[in-house]
Amino acid sequence: MEKMFSVGLTSLLLLWCLQGCWCKDPATVSVEVSRTVEVMKGHSAILPCAVTVRNPSTSNILEWFIDEGGKRHRVAFRPQLGGEGQSDQGTRLSGRVTIWSNFSLSISPVHVEDEKNFTCQMTAGPDGVAEGTTELRVFVEPEKPEVTVTSQVISVTDPAVSEVGQCVSRNGHPKPRIIWYKDSQPLPEVKDSNQMMYMVPSLAREASGLYTASSTLYLKPKKEDRESIFHCKVEYNMTSGQIMSKDSAPFNLTLHYPAEHVTFSIKSPGPIKEGDTVELKCETDGYPQPEFDFVFVEEGKEVTMQGRAGILALNPVKRVDAGVYRCEALDFDAAEVDLTKILTLSIHYMDPVMITPAGPVTVDVGEDVDLFCKTKASADHTLQWRKGSEVVSETESLSLKSVSYSDAGEYICVGSVPSVPGLHKQANVTLTVSGSPKIVEPSGPAEVQKEGDQVTLTCSAQGHPAPQFTWTPSGKESVEVQGNKVISTVTLEATAAVLEKGVTCQVANTFGTETMEFKVVIKQDAPSGSADPNSTDRADRQQGGSSGVVIAVVVCVLLLLLLVAILYFLQKNRKLPCGKQDKKDVAAGEVNNDIVVEMKSEKANEEAGLLNKRPAAEQ
Ligand SMILES: *[C@@H]1O[C@H](CO)[C@@H](O)[C@H](O)[C@H]1NC(C)=O
Ligand SMILES: *[C@@H]1O[C@H](CO)[C@@H](O)[C@H](O)[C@H]1NC(C)=O
Ligand SMILES: *[C@@H]1O[C@H](CO)[C@@H](O)[C@H](O)[C@H]1NC(C)=O
Ligand SMILES: *[C@@H]1O[C@H](CO)[C@@H](O)[C@H](O)[C@H]1NC(C)=O
Ligand SMILES: *[C@@H]1O[C@H](CO)[C@@H](O)[C@H](O)[C@H]1NC(C)=O
Ligand SMILES: *[C@@H]1O[C@H](CO)[C@@H](O)[C@H](O)[C@H]1NC(C)=O
Repeated sequence: MEKMFSVGLTSLLLLWCLQGCWCKDPATVSVEVSRTVEVMKGHSAILPCAVTVRNPSTSNILEWFIDEGGKRHRVAFRPQLGGEGQSDQGTRLSGRVTIWSNFSLSISPVHVEDEKNFTCQMTAGPDGVAEGTTELRVFVEPEKPEVTVTSQVISVTDPAVSEVGQCVSRNGHPKPRIIWYKDSQPLPEVKDSNQMMYMVPSLAREASGLYTASSTLYLKPKKEDRESIFHCKVEYNMTSGQIMSKDSAPFNLTLHYPAEHVTFSIKSPGPIKEGDTVELKCETDGYPQPEFDFVFVEEGKEVTMQGRAGILALNPVKRVDAGVYRCEALDFDAAEVDLTKILTLSIHYMDPVMITPAGPVTVDVGEDVDLFCKTKASADHTLQWRKGSEVVSETESLSLKSVSYSDAGEYICVGSVPSVPGLHKQANVTLTVSGSPKIVEPSGPAEVQKEGDQVTLTCSAQGHPAPQFTWTPSGKESVEVQGNKVISTVTLEATAAVLEKGVTCQVANTFGTETMEFKVVIKQDAPSGSADPNSTDRADRQQGGSSGVVIAVVVCVLLLLLLVAILYFLQKNRKLPCGKQDKKDVAAGEVNNDIVVEMKSEKANEEAGLLNKRPAAEQ
């Protein structure tokens, strides 16, 4: 019953409406607008409005309104026909709006506050009134977000959640959103401050109408977070439904975390030797590094050592520094773990090298000398004797038999530990060989152009103590020491007596004397073809006759040998194809031993021939 009544009423209403609409002629006036118009702040916005009126008239008027504070304010109007469009004075849009002949409203430049509902209304007298509303949306890109990382130290042992940082992005429209990222993964938006991680967002509207979004991130970091990279992102809507974003600079956390392990190591490559600089380094896997205590355990006694920043420096290290060291990290956050480590430091060393006999050694020429050296070292060592750069013995002993003056000098004994690079020591001893002087390297006769010229003679001698020189006759003398030689030089006049008897050099020391005579001759203007002033050439020339014959014979023999060799090679070349054939046969496996033997015997014959010819040529 009730239902039937309801249906009846609806039908009635429908009928009334159809009749009314038909009476009013619904198509007489209509207005068509865009639902929304989107524009960037500062740009121009065009709000179209298409109008249809059955009876166009100059008294029909089109007006644009804005909704503000719940009220409608007209901003511009225009008669449908004729006349100009005008904007109203005293509205927020005054001076920035224009109404065109096609009734579009243009706003330039657009302000953020222009984001309102705009209504286009046509009042067409008897044709009625129609309107349409456009929502104007204004967009402003917010600034790149900036993070203020908290300056306070965050410790993973802190039971409370710590502030990590605040992200701020300014001056956007519409409202921008902030998202936090850890290692490029967005963090879920948690606002519950009882959680281990949450954010406190806030949004402020600036006087300019723009929004500043900010978000503060709180979390309770774990040790792994020391390697995490955080950043924040602002996400914002742009025209045409685009969603855009901007990233902040990345940052990481300065986390303090307790040590779990200690390492105690020697900072030195290879074996350590006395005198090296050694650093014992103690380090934990915590941050920051705690203080460390160093202890040297010496025969059950503990000696506290002074380290710095986890490093115990032993400079220079001594053999007594070898032993057991202990390092203890004083990390009070890591109460339940043992942060003590020990290490054993071993130090290689070598005692000074001792030579026997010690001190300078003096022996007479011709005597034997035995030198010994010894040392002690922490590992196997070698000993070696050297004189200058020459190695004279590879053992600890050096025996010199029947010494001569050339054996005099400094002998060095070098001890080395081959397993420890750089560990060597040395000592030296000076050997002096004494004996009567000996004149060495005597020179041939000196020459002068003529009697009365100055002549210079040198006399070299070895011996110890240093020999004294006496020249007869005497002249201008000088003495010079060269190695184990003493050289005396004299300059005197070649008098008739000198030319006749020569000059005598006498060398003497406590052990004896030696004398040598130097001849002084007048130089011959050699027309007889003696261009060679060598002292021995005279003898050579005397033998010249016989040696000439010998040379001739040798040349003849050589020429003959050459001839024979050429003949032999020619013969061999002619046989070459034969030889190749033989080789092929051998390769094919048909080895003919006879041929091989034959060839061998042929060769032997040739050689025999050569041998036979040689004595014939020599005769
Ligand atoms: C209205 O006129 C303006 C200027 O003549 C033009 O820019 C705009 O596109 C027109 N709008 C429509 C909807 O025809
Ligand atoms: C415009 O009007 C619509 C519908 O009434 C409303 O939802 C919207 O918030 C308004 N826009 C502005 C900017 O006032
Ligand atoms: C941004 O756009 C999305 C969809 O495009 C919409 O859901 C959201 O409400 C918009 N946000 C703002 C602040 O306008
Ligand atoms: C953390 O930041 C500092 C300085 O900003 C940088 O030197 C360091 O390499 C960063 N650490 C990591 C794990 O990225
Ligand atoms: C030899 O020993 C002396 C004294 O021990 C030292 O002064 C000198 O330098 C050494 N000579 C060499 C070549 O080692
Ligand atoms: C003297 O003989 C030596 C060796 O035979 C030779 O080196 C030197 O050049 C000769 N002197 C002259 C002036 O020819």
